[in-house]
Amino acid sequence: MVSPFQIRPGRDEDRLPLALVFAAVAEERDGIASEPPVDVEARAARWNLDETLVAVAAGEVVGSIHIDASGFGFGEIGMAVAREWRGHGVGSALLAAAIDWARERGLHKLSLSVFAHNEAAIALYRKFGFVEEGRRVNHYRRASGELWDAIEMGLLL
Ligand SMILES: CC(C)(COP(=O)(O)OP(=O)(O)OC[C@H]1O[C@@H](n2cnc3c(N)ncnc32)[C@H](O)[C@@H]1OP(=O)(O)O)[C@@H](O)C(=O)NCCC(=O)NCCS
Repeated sequence: MVSPFQIRPGRDEDRLPLALVFAAVAEERDGIASEPPVDVEARAARWNLDETLVAVAAGEVVGSIHIDASGFGFGEIGMAVAREWRGHGVGSALLAAAIDWARERGLHKLSLSVFAHNEAAIALYRKFGFVEEGRRVNHYRRASGELWDAIEMGLLL
């Protein structure tokens, strides 16, 4: 049984919780580009709340998506859901809300980069109609020294 969650725009009091979820996901060294150490205070301070939607359950931030709207009509997204909340529809709800957010602002496209091994994220994006537009080979150097491929994906709105 999963408690209900809601999606809403980011608020000032979300800064620290957003940064803590981000730091925890970075600790996994798997889904997002950032790796430890994450300067949580600095990350909290510079979080762009105007372009962030948060998922909240029982008053706790359990995930977020940000849309970096360019001046050229496309928005670049990044997202993360707290590990214990994955597989319960939070990512889908965040992505659906981000698509609405982008359409309301007149963007014509959403785009993103995802590690080639990130099957859960790629499945999520495909579910919403994102298509693969290219592959950046050995693009990200990890702290381990490994070089990881990234898949570029896009959704025309
Ligand atoms: C990717 C991520 C945001 C998905 O969030 P989520 O809340 O688990 O997503 P949902 O529960 O809404 O699932 C969405 C879809 O993803 C797919 N999916 C979810 N978990 C999966 C898994 N372990 N393997 C394969 N597909 C999976 C399914 O298609 C699912 O749709 P369905 O439930 O209708 O079948 C989450 O796994 C996450 O935060 N990962 C770590 C950070 C990260 O990778 N961010 C993205 C960087 S590009």
